[in-house]
Amino acid sequence: MQKAKTRTRVFSGVQPTGNLHLGNYLGAITKFVALQEEHDCLYCVVDLHAITVFQDPDALTKNTREVTAAFIASGIDPARHIVFNQSQVSGHAELAWIFNCVARLGWLNRMTQFKEKAGKDRENASAGLYVYPNLMAADILLYHATHVPVGDDQKQHLELARDIAQKFNNDFAATIARAGYPGGFFPLPEPLITGPATRVMSLRDGMRKMSKSDESDMTRINLTDDEDAIAKKIKKAKTDPEPLPSEVKGLEARPEADNLVGIYAGLADTSKETVLREFGNAPFSRFKEALAELAAARLTPIGKEMRRLMADPVEIDRILAEGARRAHAIADPILAATKDIVGLIRS
Ligand code: AMP
Ligand code: TRP
Repeated sequence: MQKAKTRTRVFSGVQPTGNLHLGNYLGAITKFVALQEEHDCLYCVVDLHAITVFQDPDALTKNTREVTAAFIASGIDPARHIVFNQSQVSGHAELAWIFNCVARLGWLNRMTQFKEKAGKDRENASAGLYVYPNLMAADILLYHATHVPVGDDQKQHLELARDIAQKFNNDFAATIARAGYPGGFFPLPEPLITGPATRVMSLRDGMRKMSKSDESDMTRINLTDDEDAIAKKIKKAKTDPEPLPSEVKGLEARPEADNLVGIYAGLADTSKETVLREFGNAPFSRFKEALAELAAARLTPIGKEMRRLMADPVEIDRILAEGARRAHAIADPILAATKDIVGLIRS
């Protein structure tokens, strides 16, 4: 007898907010690429998430194309999987509204990303920034996605997505059962947060996350950086005076060393142990040279391909439109069933 194939669907998103960096690449995009082999994947440029903080309209358009180009240049195949921008599938916003009515204020108040992004001037943050995690839950659940590759910073948002799915399944248990879904309507999505580089830190401060919005470009390696820029940034990266330890335990309380070793391991697709086996007791100068070479070898072909793709925006827009068409085909029946479950009349 043929064994039933367990259906898994992968969904993830990246915001088109400029300066795609090594953290995005190692924490998310390399995982997206690897998952293509065994799963049906949707990779979404989340433009509606981006506008929770004001975006210059022309920059938003350009950045949306740039993230798309980065996906493809990194090895995502838009013919086999679905690559699209969020705003072209209206179900994301519709389901997010329903989830705004499921999620509790108390849950949202715990979100650390909102606290960080809103900062001290909380009164002046957009309402969208506050309900951002509900939209993220909608992104995933609109496709009944089961697996979500993300960096470590998104863990809390995924827990919220699971809470929303669970509360929806409970609140509407009666109509869900009547509609013929005995195990609940929304699956509880699993986060995939694995490997040595789930949280890449700033090159200038091992306690801060590498971020698109850091004022100093020296804190991050951008996917579009050339070999010289990469070498310069790694050379100037903050370290401590000790040589590298020969075991992972020796990286404790050495955040900058830990970060660079994690980056090396991520880029070489290996573990920190293996890296330290080669570079334990080496001075940082030697390790940094090897790291710069590895980073340039991995990243500069991607940057080059991104530039090539970006030269043809019509083709990128065509890929996004085609992805949106295919995303709609999955989302529409799930949204329709959701409306029926909630009791919303549709025609
Ligand atoms: P964002 O740029 O916020 O849309 O993030 C896109 C993806 O990259 C998400 O899965 C994030 O968790 C991941 N990511 C962002 N910054 C980092 C970082 N410094 N280290 C690892 N992953 C990251
Ligand atoms: N919030 C994520 C980030 O900033 C991006 C995102 C939006 C996402 N929707 C998603 C990630 C759905 C995974 C699944 O990194």
